[in-house]
Amino acid sequence: WKVDLYQYEGFWFPLQPLEGLLLAQDYFKPQPNDVILSSLPKSGTTWLKALTFAILTRSSFGESTNPLLSRSPHDCVPFLELEIGSNPQNFNSNVSLVATHIPYTSLPKSIISSGCKIIYIFRDPKDVIVSLWHFSQKLSPEGVQTSTTEDLDLKEAFELFCEGVSIAGSYWNHVLGYWRASLESPERILFIKYENLKNETIYYVKKMAEFMGYPFSLEEEVNGVVQNIINLCSFENLSSLEVNQSGPRQFLSGMVGENNAFFRKGRVGDWKNHLTPEMATRLYQITEQKLSSSGLTLHISANA
Ligand code: A3P
Repeated sequence: WKVDLYQYEGFWFPLQPLEGLLLAQDYFKPQPNDVILSSLPKSGTTWLKALTFAILTRSSFGESTNPLLSRSPHDCVPFLELEIGSNPQNFNSNVSLVATHIPYTSLPKSIISSGCKIIYIFRDPKDVIVSLWHFSQKLSPEGVQTSTTEDLDLKEAFELFCEGVSIAGSYWNHVLGYWRASLESPERILFIKYENLKNETIYYVKKMAEFMGYPFSLEEEVNGVVQNIINLCSFENLSSLEVNQSGPRQFLSGMVGENNAFFRKGRVGDWKNHLTPEMATRLYQITEQKLSSSGLTLHISANA
């Protein structure tokens, strides 16, 4: 993966976010009304950050003044294990949205005990691995100690992903950790699938607003506020904004690249253009096997 990964509490992390995770476990103090956005990388984190930020700030900004027009969603919502974890001043959160890729079982205990809400987004693993592989091509390991700077080809990346060796992986254990927790406390954890968010965006945006305690009023609905938020945060809009097209960014892996690395196609099913039928069947089978006794069905297909 161009960057070395270390196993901690059963999951794989690059060094920098792992250090942030360890500090956060000891010192992070969320406010009870904070909302934690969690995901495995490439599952829709950027979109979730933008939508929740736009929902929460809708009364503070007009359509043309929302910070999402001039700042990356990643500058509107910080990552716990990067911006917050690396800066001790930020350990007492004064922001209401915090994003993370930390698996449920490794979350700071303060997050669980504060009772703050969690929105978890997950995605078809076939699209996740394709997205992750493209993403990794766009990063360079400037200033990061790494045993290899070689690009992995897709087959190698796929193999590692299947073995569970990817950032914050394994994919399946990450999803299952949040799934099991959501069964125990459904009022605290909202589970959203990228594909469903794509197909029924209005329904899920309203659901997120309600879940966060900021439901839309009838007047707002009639005035098109929900649709405006969806348009503001659409792939087409965000990816066309100057701020998201370039500009240096430091990534959770500690590597550097540009903001546009977060915007590629934003579609469901692009895996068909990259994975062989054998690869798709393999991911389907692993998913069936890993989730078999969990009660969670991802509704992913084995082929096109
Ligand atoms: P693709 O590589 O399949 O295009 P993350 O934000 O977790 O890093 O995930 C990145 C993936 O989400 C990329 O998928 C990216 O294109 C897609 N994405 C980014 N912004 C989006 C948006 N506003 N709507 C839908 N998908 C988006």
